[in-house]
Amino acid sequence: MTAVKFGVQNPGVPVQAARVPPRRQLHNIALVGFMGVGKSTVGHLLAELMQFDLIDTDKVIEQRTGRRIAEIFATDGEPAFRALEADLVKEMETLRRTVVSTGGGLVVAPANMESLKAHALVACLWASPEVIFERVRHQSHRPLLQAPDPLAKIREMLGARAPAYKQSDVMVGVDFRAPLETARHIANSFRRAVAERG
Ligand code: S3P
Repeated sequence: MTAVKFGVQNPGVPVQAARVPPRRQLHNIALVGFMGVGKSTVGHLLAELMQFDLIDTDKVIEQRTGRRIAEIFATDGEPAFRALEADLVKEMETLRRTVVSTGGGLVVAPANMESLKAHALVACLWASPEVIFERVRHQSHRPLLQAPDPLAKIREMLGARAPAYKQSDVMVGVDFRAPLETARHIANSFRRAVAERG
């Protein structure tokens, strides 16, 4: 059984210790989780703490295509965007000492989660639908949340995606946890998991 700690400032939301099988290669750290949970902010802090490079999958896709994510969704459709994500994920297997901040839907495809786990510790930031809604309600760049009732949409999508997110090595509840605390927790989990490999 994996030890599960409960954060004092985050009652009821466990901070899970990493469960990483012994033969996994841990060169990088991948941050996954729903839109608006703070992957970019935590990614920057974590890269600084670890002295790792930082890659944001949405930003790479925007740079390569010369288009915004919303534009790709609008003109080519979501499947085209998912194909770009899947190609990028495969390329990332050669990365070293890098924090990868992923788009919120990237690990919904099991092949993407499996590919990330081939080289990275996968940490999921988890927030409640209400907190996510508060964080994204004044933003308009996420095509999947442009719905008449965004909170209902967040609840529905988060519920549907939860089984995929829960395949992560580490789950960190962020409703009441500052980004720096989250980054420190993930850095410690990574160091511990690497040390356990000798
Ligand atoms: C998406 C999340 C977005 C972006 C795209 C689709 C999703 O990234 O990849 O709009 O399916 O959850 P963020 O999680 O960085 O907002």
